Amino acid sequence: MNDFNYLKESDVYLDSACQSLRPEPVIEALNAYYREFNSCGERVKYPWGETTDRKVNATRDKVLKYLGLKKKDYFVSFTLNTTYGLNLLLSQFDAQKAGVKKIITSDIEHNSPFLSTIAFSRRTALPREVIERNDDGSLPLDADFSRALVVVNAASNIDGRRLENIKDLEKTVHQNGGFLIIDAAQAMAHSKDILEKVPADAICFSAHKMYAPSLGGMVVRRDLLGYLDTSFVGGGMVSDVDRDTYDLLSVEPEHAYTKFESGLQAWGEIVALGAAIDWLEGLKKSDHKNLEDNYTELYNFLKTREKVHVINQAPNPTISIYVDKAETGFDSHFLGSALADQGIMTRTGYFCVHYYLDHVKHYPPLLRFSLGYHNRPSDIERVKSALANL
Ligand SMILES: Cc1ncc(COP(=O)(O)O)c(C=O)c1O
Repeated sequence: MNDFNYLKESDVYLDSACQSLRPEPVIEALNAYYREFNSCGERVKYPWGETTDRKVNATRDKVLKYLGLKKKDYFVSFTLNTTYGLNLLLSQFDAQKAGVKKIITSDIEHNSPFLSTIAFSRRTALPREVIERNDDGSLPLDADFSRALVVVNAASNIDGRRLENIKDLEKTVHQNGGFLIIDAAQAMAHSKDILEKVPADAICFSAHKMYAPSLGGMVVRRDLLGYLDTSFVGGGMVSDVDRDTYDLLSVEPEHAYTKFESGLQAWGEIVALGAAIDWLEGLKKSDHKNLEDNYTELYNFLKTREKVHVINQAPNPTISIYVDKAETGFDSHFLGSALADQGIMTRTGYFCVHYYLDHVKHYPPLLRFSLGYHNRPSDIERVKSALANL
């Protein structure tokens, strides 16, 4: 794939679950903003600002189209990242007004939903349940979902396992008078199909994990607004301000997104997210096949290694393993550093999933390979020769 030609042959980047590499068209879109129409959105009337407004609005539309959702039902706001979006929602959610009686999350969550659901439970004094996900990533539906606010990921950052029963979960949650918030951080790039047309109440994602610049996104159902008590306020959110009062712009349906966009936004990054979505949608079958071939090859190889313990139940762009110090004399952190010495960039530790990996599974620190469309078959060969003796 030519869009990552800036990569040196010696650089083997396998940390896409943290941040994808950005393809040339995305970098170009960001540079074009800075070089050609560097301006504020929403506020200015000169032509540069009009270009920014047009492109920012186009990105909002592209996000909805990417997910198969309709503008009459949803709006798109931009934030810093998934964590920020989830916290904005959970810290402003009026549980009493919404009739919510508890909050539910799952055991394999990233700290981002895991901690923010703890904070929600503390703030509201409502009980919090942590449901054990099935091995295939689905959430058991025999729990009591009545009037529950459910916050779960659509794909895990440990092994990419997906919320396979997301559609049934959505139905169950809504039939029981509850709300569903999806952490789509890992799903947007490589598992978007699972999210398509799912009428969740909100979907939070990180553009930096979907080949776009550093940016957060929130896709929010319009009727959720009635249950959000705005507490994070500032410029760009108001239609009028008096000495002790203000009127929020988000009451107007076409400005609903301002609910979460206080202050100046990352206009260039938003514009470049639009370019990333175009790029993702324009990928060829051969690009998808190349990614699949690479991660399948790596997974199959890792499974043959006697001293490598593979966490994944199935091949996936995200693969976690660990080495046991008693068997090898070193741990995954040491292995990660040794790979880094050879230009192979992986992640080690618990990847912000401390509860599940450390406290439930008692795994030693892990090492994660997370692949992307930029990876070449030669990258996998490099890993294979580096791990040949394990
Ligand atoms: C599944 C999952 N959820 C949430 C997050 C948090 O994303 P961010 O750090 O961009 O807020 C991550 C980050 O790795 C993740 O993998």
